[in-house]
Amino acid sequence: MWSFSAHSHGASLLIIITTSSLLGVTFGGEGICSAPSIIDSGADSKPLYYKVTNPTLSPSHLQDLPGYTRSVYKRDHALITPESQVFSPLPGWTKTLGAYLITPALGAHFVMYLAQMQEKSISGLPPHDVERFLFVVQGAVKLTNSSGISERLTVDSFAYLPPNFDHSMKCDSSATLVVFERRYASLENHHPKQIIGSTDKQPLLETPGEIFQLRKLLPMSMVYDFNVHIMDFEPGEFLNVKEVHYNQHGLLLLEGQGIYRLGENWYPVQSGDVIWMAPFVPQWYAALGKTRSRYLLYKDTNRDPLDHK
Ligand SMILES: *[C@@H]1O[C@H](CO)[C@@H](O)[C@H](O)[C@H]1NC(C)=O
Repeated sequence: MWSFSAHSHGASLLIIITTSSLLGVTFGGEGICSAPSIIDSGADSKPLYYKVTNPTLSPSHLQDLPGYTRSVYKRDHALITPESQVFSPLPGWTKTLGAYLITPALGAHFVMYLAQMQEKSISGLPPHDVERFLFVVQGAVKLTNSSGISERLTVDSFAYLPPNFDHSMKCDSSATLVVFERRYASLENHHPKQIIGSTDKQPLLETPGEIFQLRKLLPMSMVYDFNVHIMDFEPGEFLNVKEVHYNQHGLLLLEGQGIYRLGENWYPVQSGDVIWMAPFVPQWYAALGKTRSRYLLYKDTNRDPLDHK
């Protein structure tokens, strides 16, 4: 059960905890009361981000509730829950279904979509001058660039591809990617480069006044006109700052459940949910439930709002 995630820090820790619990049983039985809750928590036996593609309220469970959806579309925000995500063939890609979740039609300056790559599928290229960021939530892809060098990207890995950068993703069996694209806001003498990484290799950053854990997937350099944050909250933790800011966001809840406040609305949310936040919508999150909340958040940055839209 553990073998596929042997590289994972979390899994190693669990093995240690499990092993010492077993030793506890053997040598005296003290302190084993807490052991079952660790072993029983079924979430740990599932692959990372399993719930994104297998949400609790899957469409089949909603079939007896005609017309019901938690999805909401308003002027300055949208909540797009799994049962209302609509997939169709992704233009330019082969054997891939895509669901555009955020587009300029909402008022966003970027697109965010889920791409479901099937057996022997190949990605297409973004439009001219458009940069691309992708994050693997299920399966694996092989990314090949113009140097002919290939990298295998598995769950929790990501890639940034600069505008007009020749590349392709190939998938042998199946993969689900979340993809962000936007027209690059260029700066003189600045040239973005291909970046490949994985969340667990990114350092934790200081979050003064806040309790959540923060990682940024792209360098905090002026070259890049956006970043993607990974934010972790334990149940009961919440954002201290009730933010209102000029940046726009696209969010995918990767793990957990909680309440998202958007303007005057308070939404119960869970893994698999997508949120669009327009500039200046009041926003706040509190993690609830029994497991960690983790979300992935697009945020435009490093550009003067007068120079760039
Ligand atoms: C192609 O990918 C390799 C490995 O990630 C990298 O070292 C190389 O710089 C990339 N080529 C270009 C043109 O970015």
